[in-house]
Amino acid sequence: MSVKITWLGHSAFALDMEGHPVLIDPFLTGNPLAAADPNDLAAEIIFLSHAHGDHLGDTVAIAKRTGALVVANFEICNWLNAHGVANTHAGNSGGGWNHGFVHCKFTVAHHSSSFPDGTYGGNPCGFIFTTPSGKRLYFAGDTDVFGDMQLIGDHVIDLAFLPIGDNYTMGPEDSLLAIKYIRPRFVIPMHYMTFPAVDQDASDWANRVNSETTAQPIVLDPGASYTLA
Ligand code: NI
Ligand code: MN
Repeated sequence: MSVKITWLGHSAFALDMEGHPVLIDPFLTGNPLAAADPNDLAAEIIFLSHAHGDHLGDTVAIAKRTGALVVANFEICNWLNAHGVANTHAGNSGGGWNHGFVHCKFTVAHHSSSFPDGTYGGNPCGFIFTTPSGKRLYFAGDTDVFGDMQLIGDHVIDLAFLPIGDNYTMGPEDSLLAIKYIRPRFVIPMHYMTFPAVDQDASDWANRVNSETTAQPIVLDPGASYTLA
């Protein structure tokens, strides 16, 4: 069984998890790299790492249209419930839950989290996803590198999604340290190229990942996919 990963631009991804459609941080409206129309996306689950507008994105509209379950922290779920999204599952750092076709464990992320309307959004998170066939993916969210990424690496990660944009999150240099801590087989860069403040050259980054780490970089164009077989 496989996981097909499509980059929608920024930190937004559409995943086909062994036949089940999943979205992560579906920021499309207002995303200059948006590779999909939010009205066309299917979702059984939407995972939301934190409340910032460039991650919350089109979550409310997609959840209302599809009835997808939204998995996020307690404060985000409360806000969603108050904004017409009833189907939510709240978690927090260290907590895992089996959603049937995917187990999701919340991790810490070193960042901040507030909604575009100013409401407090709880602690920002990352996620460790495990599929029934045992594939394990780590979505870091928006974060600095931190030493406990070594503990995340102890989970044995097949594929990691890491921000490389710098300015708001770790940049390319620190992402190399993160990769050494996490030890994934594959790594997909995100949260770059969207705005001038996060402009980075992913091919330079990929060259350094190849020469300085044991991971294989997977650089996607917006709309392109990679299948983890
Ligand atoms: Ni953020
Ligand atoms: Mn962000």
